[in-house]
Amino acid sequence: MSKEDDKGNTGGWKEFFWNPRTHEVMGRTASSWGLILLFYLVFYTFLAGMFALTMYVMLLTLNDYQPTWQDRLAIPGMMIRPKGQALEIIYNIDQTESWDTYVQKLNSFLGPYNDSLQALNNDVCPPDQFYVQEDSGEVRNNPKRSCQFNRTMLGECSGLGATSAERTFGYENGQPCVFIKLNRVIGMLPGKSQSPYVTCGAKKEDSDSIGEIAYFPTNGSFNLMYYPYYGSRSQVNYSQPLVAVKFLNITYNMDVNVECKINSDTITELSERDKFAGRVSFRLRINKND
Ligand SMILES: *[C@@H]1O[C@H](CO)[C@@H](O)[C@H](O)[C@H]1NC(C)=O
Ligand SMILES: *[C@@H]1O[C@H](CO)[C@@H](O)[C@H](O)[C@H]1NC(C)=O
Ligand SMILES: *[C@@H]1O[C@H](CO)[C@@H](O)[C@H](O)[C@H]1NC(C)=O
Ligand SMILES: *[C@@H]1O[C@H](CO)[C@@H](O)[C@H](O)[C@H]1NC(C)=O
Ligand SMILES: *[C@@H]1O[C@H](CO)[C@@H](O)[C@H](O)[C@H]1NC(C)=O
Repeated sequence: MSKEDDKGNTGGWKEFFWNPRTHEVMGRTASSWGLILLFYLVFYTFLAGMFALTMYVMLLTLNDYQPTWQDRLAIPGMMIRPKGQALEIIYNIDQTESWDTYVQKLNSFLGPYNDSLQALNNDVCPPDQFYVQEDSGEVRNNPKRSCQFNRTMLGECSGLGATSAERTFGYENGQPCVFIKLNRVIGMLPGKSQSPYVTCGAKKEDSDSIGEIAYFPTNGSFNLMYYPYYGSRSQVNYSQPLVAVKFLNITYNMDVNVECKINSDTITELSERDKFAGRVSFRLRINKND
């Protein structure tokens, strides 16, 4: 009995794949299969078309010169140079190799700010006012020019002075320069009539050890003429303005936690919520063998 059943079963399976009586493959005739294939072909072609059309329309709305969505941070972040893995500058005055890389990094960082290059690439702009170069409607006012930020404006922190201490940005004689930049935000106007400026101080417990600080350019300000920034595609030669902070009398052989922040007449109060907005903190430690 079981033998007979088996035979019947296998016969059923075979018939399912190919039924010679009705000429059906897997329960459908050739024309039925054809219709199904045709249906899916049309269906997927339609989907692909929809996708391409949507993509095309979306790309049309994108602007090559400016991101459609930018974060609405009222206050941009700040960053220091030289910068390693962590935000700290630690070296020993008596060990040249401990500060030599800082000097090398700063020299290559400041290379593009050389006066000769700035004169070649950028404009001398009227100071203390925005350098506005708006597009008129759909007509792009491109390429947009940028303002000169000369390396010599960094004074004793330019790394160009006559003395060896100046050429090592003060690292050699324990009066190091740290450079501060404000993150770029397209279209940002970081002040009204007064240029925003940087001030640095020590965290409370280190306030006796930070010593006097000098700022370059004068007042530690980011001049208004470097704003607004129109994006790297529009302003190809843009030189981000810098503020150099020189520590003149910092206490040796101890950690000093420094915090620098931006002051602006459009920023009333630094938000406590975002601890990176408009400020940067770093650890500075200069060791000296007795
Ligand atoms: C910038 O000037 C310094 C000193 O004159 C020079 O050593 C350096 O090669 C220059 N950098 C560039 C990028 O021109
Ligand atoms: C920058 O340096 C160049 C070359 O020395 C000079 O012609 C130009 O006036 C300087 N620009 C500013 C803004 O000081
Ligand atoms: C950028 O600098 C180059 C010279 O290096 C200059 O020929 C060009 O006109 C500048 N472009 C703009 C938009 O300032
Ligand atoms: C520095 O600040 C003082 C007072 O705020 C101002 O009178 C002076 O013009 C500023 N100097 C520069 C170069 O911005
Ligand atoms: C440097 O700082 C020390 C205290 O850390 C102070 O006694 C000294 O007078 C300062 N020197 C100058 C030139 O300000």
